[in-house]
Amino acid sequence: MRKVMLTGDRPTGKLHVGHYVGSLRRRVELQNTGDFDDIFIMIADAQALTDNADNPEKVRQNIIEVALDYLACGLDPAKSTLFIQSQVPELCELSFYYMNLVTVSRLQRNPTVKSEIQMRNFEASIPVGFFTYPISQAADITAFKATTVPVGEDQMPMLEQTREIVHKFNSVYGETLVDPKILLPENEACMRLPGIDGKAKMSKSLNNCIYLSEEPEEIQKKVFSMFTDPTHIRIEDPGKLEGNTVFTYLDAFCRPEYFPEFLPEYKDLDELKAHYKRGGLGDMKVKRFLNNVLQAELEPIRNRRKEFQKDIPAIYEILKKGSEKAEAVAAETLKDVKAAMKINYFDDMDLIREQSEKFSE
Ligand code: TRP
Repeated sequence: MRKVMLTGDRPTGKLHVGHYVGSLRRRVELQNTGDFDDIFIMIADAQALTDNADNPEKVRQNIIEVALDYLACGLDPAKSTLFIQSQVPELCELSFYYMNLVTVSRLQRNPTVKSEIQMRNFEASIPVGFFTYPISQAADITAFKATTVPVGEDQMPMLEQTREIVHKFNSVYGETLVDPKILLPENEACMRLPGIDGKAKMSKSLNNCIYLSEEPEEIQKKVFSMFTDPTHIRIEDPGKLEGNTVFTYLDAFCRPEYFPEFLPEYKDLDELKAHYKRGGLGDMKVKRFLNNVLQAELEPIRNRRKEFQKDIPAIYEILKKGSEKAEAVAAETLKDVKAAMKINYFDDMDLIREQSEKFSE
């Protein structure tokens, strides 16, 4: 079977390090294995509009930011198709047919939608488009016959709903759609990278993000202000690792080679953690190490971004080409879907013959 990767992001802001360890880094690695027959990376502007209907300018401005972040991280248009969701109208058509296979109560049970409704104070007036976005996401995934969808944990309910739609469609209309598999981040820290304040999730509205394009001084300022263990007051005090943001970030970002480079007196992260727990290791020393690690990780990304920023029309051209390719692939799937549903009347010679016979009796 063909191996196809698809994933995407809503363009509501620049991407941050939470996006990076949650999915972006993995996408680039997977891209570079050469294992996939096709890779589609989608800027989900239409989905972003489901809860930003009154602010299309925000979405419009952020498409290029997300595209630059993608390219800066190493997504390569020669290997991965980068495209804009709204430029592939076939996705709307697929969604329209899938809507008949999903109940209102099933949508109401989707935990991610539930919590987003709360976060946005939508309780009294949920936009229909927002409420049904899991169905449109099923269209995004199935249109490209995706087999692998690397996303964060919050997207698990979307993948479950997609698989239900696939199974329902295939059982009602015959085997047509491909069942996708979710690929979750490699460890707990990558799964739920907290904001620098230690709060649950990095989010622009909480002002606790480190962006991929952040300048070195800003990175350092943010790392030095990070939440650690509030009971670890004097250096001699034993420290806690649970909920200690600095260590969570090290779990997400540290590579073995950073120890000889930046902290040669420790063998590895386990040894550093053991010392912290025992007492005698100050927060500042760990923060300085984390700062070095993050600077090393983010510098090449920031530099590549600056290169790409020099030719913005070329980026739009990449997205245009990508959207054209994506549309061609989605159109094939839509054709299969319509044939399976037998709503391809003009190509259906059996139907035309059958009806002729019926009326000639
Ligand atoms: N829901 C994703 C997000 O909030 C974006 C997205 C839209 C997506 N369609 C998708 C992700 C399909 C993976 C597959 O960032």
